[in-house]
Amino acid sequence: METIIISLGGSLIVPDEIDFIFLKKFRNLILKYLKKEKRFFIISGGGKIARNYQKSARKITKIAKEDIDWIGIHGTRINAHLLRTIFRNYAYPKIITNPQKIKKEIKEKIIIAGGWKPGWSTDFVATKLAQAYKAKIVINLSNISFVFNKDPKKYKDAKPLEKINWRDFRKIVGNKWNPGANLPFDPIASKLAEKLKLKVIVLKGNDLKNVDNFLSNKIFKGTTIEENKQKF
Ligand code: UTP
Repeated sequence: METIIISLGGSLIVPDEIDFIFLKKFRNLILKYLKKEKRFFIISGGGKIARNYQKSARKITKIAKEDIDWIGIHGTRINAHLLRTIFRNYAYPKIITNPQKIKKEIKEKIIIAGGWKPGWSTDFVATKLAQAYKAKIVINLSNISFVFNKDPKKYKDAKPLEKINWRDFRKIVGNKWNPGANLPFDPIASKLAEKLKLKVIVLKGNDLKNVDNFLSNKIFKGTTIEENKQKF
């Protein structure tokens, strides 16, 4: 059975309000692939739930960076509970909150995880789970269609990339964690993913037809981040 790790960006679960229409379609897509001998780890992001709590706490008083992360983590966990609930008959009953403390043998074909601890985002949890279960690919679903060579919000001439290697990608995202940062794949997760030689596929999550294409090995739109295969 193939193990697929999905880092499900919170911007898809709670772009503003909970997007139950997206979640309903996402659920149908996953259930379709369960029949095709695939098993899924779905790591849920925090989205507006996490960001609203983080923003409000900061407005009230001075909050330590670590506490900003903790409140975000709890946002990711309530979203994880929502996912676990909608996959009730298929999912492992516990939400994974520590990717280092997991059972090796889980019979369920859907496993849901949320945030772990301060210092990174749920992308890192997804990468740790890929390491633990020896998965080769992490699908990163968010609200962007591609990784760009520079910030498309700042630069009009930013170009979408179909492929990029880890070294170049890490130059774009940097090395430091910033709570609530909005990057295609988090810097701390990227460091580990590079070490593990993982392939990360960045796809726009609400284009579920495109996600479906990727899952069935058809042509898809998105960015593949992988090890540098060029020889020097
Ligand atoms: P994410 O940044 O993973 O959620 O977690 P998100 O909403 O999906 O982010 P995007 O939309 O993909 O960018 C929300 C916040 O929770 C904290 C961080 O502060 C993060 O910004 N967090 C999450 C942690 O501190 N540790 C974790 O293991 C996970």
